[in-house]
Amino acid sequence: MHTEVNTAFSKQSAYFDAYDYSNEILVYMRTQVRNHVLKFLKKDDYILELNAGTGLDACFFAEYGCNVHATDISDGMLGRFQEKLDNYPHLQSKIQIQKCSYTELNQVKTASFNYVFSNFGGLNCISNLQKVTQHLPEKLQKGAYITWVVMPPVCLWEMKDIFKGQFSSALRRFKKNGTKAHLEGEYFDVFYFTPSQVQKSFGKSFKLVSLEGMGGIMPPPSKEDFPKKYPKLYQKLIKWDEKLRYKFPFNAWADHFIITLQYMG
Ligand SMILES: C[S@@+](CC[C@H](N)C(=O)[O-])C[C@H]1O[C@@H](n2cnc3c(N)ncnc32)[C@H](O)[C@@H]1O
Repeated sequence: MHTEVNTAFSKQSAYFDAYDYSNEILVYMRTQVRNHVLKFLKKDDYILELNAGTGLDACFFAEYGCNVHATDISDGMLGRFQEKLDNYPHLQSKIQIQKCSYTELNQVKTASFNYVFSNFGGLNCISNLQKVTQHLPEKLQKGAYITWVVMPPVCLWEMKDIFKGQFSSALRRFKKNGTKAHLEGEYFDVFYFTPSQVQKSFGKSFKLVSLEGMGGIMPPPSKEDFPKKYPKLYQKLIKWDEKLRYKFPFNAWADHFIITLQYMG
């Protein structure tokens, strides 16, 4: 399974950053995620980043003052990340990169992180989140925060395709045994989780601190032309999104949700 995921994301790594910067909705959402994290993160925190990709967020948090231990399984993504670090010598002492699946966090030697971060649905590539959470207590300081950005089964923007008669795309996230993702000619399974399934996977020693939806009212990144085609409507939807993203159903029925928990020890 890791082979297809590695190959797909390695191919995507060639244009990953350029696409990220060119998609206005993605830029907005990455800022939304970082603003969420900055409510809990302290400048000298030690972050364990899962599925770090090309290191866009790792570099941001290192610039902020944190140390980051960044992990991923894609050789291509990690290659791009290393190139970036080679060009930013001031970040080299703040960031360590390790090729490691988030299901094998026992291979990470450090054991005193105070933040665990995963962005943009990297964790949707496995069916059982306990394969990740089982390793966390031995890696975390008491009081550590965890912020994960995860894709849920219900996305209102996709569900509206029912009214166009496009049932399979509207309901694709509901398949019990995962949905086949097709990326760069590779096929792999993707699994969707509700916020309560994520919370349950952590067990009782973690408490829920914050939950907000991303793309519950404003369009998801796949509608990349929307801001240019409908600029006024886009701004209105953002305003409504900002008002309602912490409230049900918009904190759970969205393109992604941002969930933060705290380790109580
Ligand atoms: C959509 S990208 C997001 C990358 C990065 N978090 C970001 O926001 O730019 C998903 C990432 O998840 C990584 N990934 C998928 N399965 C993984 C696994 N089992 N362990 C570690 N990383 C994984 C992929 O290699 C890819 O880099």
